[in-house]
Amino acid sequence: MDFKEELRKYQKEIELELEKYIRKEDCPERVLNEAMEYSLMANGKRLRPILVLASYRLFRQDIQKCMPFAIAIELLHNFSLIHDDLPGIDNDDFRHGKLTNHKKYNEATAILAGDALLNQAYMVISNELLKTENKYDLELKIKVFNEFTIAIDRMIAGEYVDTEFEGKDISLDYLEYNYNNKTGALIRLCVRMGAILANAKNEEIERLTNYAEKIGLAYQIKDDLLSVEGDELITGKPVGNDEARKKCTYISKYGLQEAKDVLERLIAEAIKITDDFGEKAEFLKELALYIKNRNK
Ligand code: IPE
Ligand code: IPE
Ligand code: MG
Ligand code: MG
Repeated sequence: MDFKEELRKYQKEIELELEKYIRKEDCPERVLNEAMEYSLMANGKRLRPILVLASYRLFRQDIQKCMPFAIAIELLHNFSLIHDDLPGIDNDDFRHGKLTNHKKYNEATAILAGDALLNQAYMVISNELLKTENKYDLELKIKVFNEFTIAIDRMIAGEYVDTEFEGKDISLDYLEYNYNNKTGALIRLCVRMGAILANAKNEEIERLTNYAEKIGLAYQIKDDLLSVEGDELITGKPVGNDEARKKCTYISKYGLQEAKDVLERLIAEAIKITDDFGEKAEFLKELALYIKNRNK
């Protein structure tokens, strides 16, 4: 199977699974449920759950076992996007080629849809813990759950500093702190989740963590590049929004070429790490390249 095909297969599998978590019942909060579905099923790339599954697959094949964790991350990610777009944060009107959640519904609904998605992520994991009978598996899952809570804490810290730094020229250390938290923390979590649940050795988990830290930083730099030279019809979100909000990014600080050079270097380093895992890491290697070359 070639990379694109495998990526699509993963995306399809994840979407079929996500469907199961959509609430369709007729109830007083029906519109809130619709708002959750509106963002969740809006054609995201599903990179994070794919990373969970692909990291797990380096060690074990029965990926259904880690599917609830992959789903929880996608629920959580969508919470972060809805809140990121709110008027008090990035104030964006479009995402995934559609109106952002607060524009389609209203601010109160968007805030609550985000809250509900975040909580749904916790519900999925807590149900999974409750169902696990094998003591050793339960220990692994509790470890992963603990890392899950820490990564959310870091992501929120990153979102805070991102807004706090608007309009300021910050140091490279601060800029990287921002990226490593707002975006890097979840990407790192995905890879560690997959590896820990598959019972990988500590040394393997650490090596994969290094890979994740490279692609996490690279992912945000590429996001910034798309915000400058992307095609809105493809990315589905506005070009020029970082500049309009005077965000301090790799590009505003060092220029386009330097940002591209850093991206190139990070991806080369990530690929080098996958080499240690041999052929079975081919997908993760291709995924790193995809992060560099993606146009959405
Ligand atoms: C956008 O993430 C926000 C960042 C952390 C860069 P993605 O580009 O992965 O979002 P979707 O889900 O694929 O739209
Ligand atoms: C998003 O960062 C990070 C999170 C949502 C946690 P950005 O604000 O740079 O991402 P986009 O460009 O809106 O997707
Ligand atoms: Mg933002
Ligand atoms: Mg944003």
